[in-house]
Amino acid sequence: MKSAVVAREFEERGWKFGAGQSERNGVLPPTRRKRCGRNANECRFEDMSESLRREFDAVDRTTDPNDFVKYLDTTRATNFFQQIKRHMLELLELRAGESAADLGCGTGEDARAMAERLGPRGRAVGVDLSATMIAKARERREADRARESGAEFLQADVQRLPFVDESFDAIRAERVLQHTPDADAAIREMVRVAKRGGRIVIWEGDLDLFIIDAEDYETSRAMQRFICDGFRHGDIGHRLYRRFLECGLEDVRAIPLVGRFTDFKLIENAFDLPAAVERAVGQKLIDRERAARWLESLRQAARAERFFSAIGGFITFGRKG
Ligand SMILES: C[S@@+](CC[C@H](N)C(=O)[O-])C[C@H]1O[C@@H](n2cnc3c(N)ncnc32)[C@H](O)[C@@H]1O
Repeated sequence: MKSAVVAREFEERGWKFGAGQSERNGVLPPTRRKRCGRNANECRFEDMSESLRREFDAVDRTTDPNDFVKYLDTTRATNFFQQIKRHMLELLELRAGESAADLGCGTGEDARAMAERLGPRGRAVGVDLSATMIAKARERREADRARESGAEFLQADVQRLPFVDESFDAIRAERVLQHTPDADAAIREMVRVAKRGGRIVIWEGDLDLFIIDAEDYETSRAMQRFICDGFRHGDIGHRLYRRFLECGLEDVRAIPLVGRFTDFKLIENAFDLPAAVERAVGQKLIDRERAARWLESLRQAARAERFFSAIGGFITFGRKG
């Protein structure tokens, strides 16, 4: 079963789902320490919550940006993200000689995959806010020169792209808008720099589609919402369809993809559920004893091999008319 394969793969690789990096035993991972601005053990939950919302929009300001490189390498290797990336590449309909951009390109693999398809007469540009990501993307391109025609990498903000109007035949963006302060500005920029007839393809997960099965449904719902709200735009996945239409894009489609997870450890680690529960209790969103019972019920379900969780998202496609 694919979900089991994905889950096992995630666990083996120690994958963290976006926000969750362990704060267990009062020890923060390197990425959190500097943001808290004080000794790790003095860090308050509110600081961590803020950090969860913001860390991927400021990779360079964390003490170990390479953590983010490792995170991307780990997620990219999973079946779920391989499936997402393959599907996005198909929808981009790249033809030799065209120009394409990957916005929020991270370590550059997707821009390089586009460059291979575009050939030597084409142009593929990877854009990322983070100098660390751009340096890593260039380093990997150099190490792999033999395999491709070359992609350019540029440090820039997706909210203010340094390209003239109608520069690209195809634009992709994956997992960046959830971290972008003004997602609408970013979408407007994508439309601006797309050529007439150009394709825009975005993948975003949607934590409104985050299910944790438990007898205490209300607490599951409260925690799902709390975790979703911990991101800048945790629910952006389902909001892109309307936004694409409002921008005047044509042939707009939203393709849903869902990952199922029966491995409690995976979800517990990915969202750091114990710490998330503690924060929700601290903010008086849920009752402490009820929350503890809820968490214990999930652990029991895991022991009985009955734990079930799922996370969905959308690839949204649009064409500039
Ligand atoms: C979760 S990673 C996804 C990377 C890549 N798209 C992938 O799927 O492997 C988000 C990336 O967006 C970048 N980013 C965040 N805010 C950005 C912005 N305003 N403009 C450009 N890139 C941004 C981060 O530096 C990071 O590399």
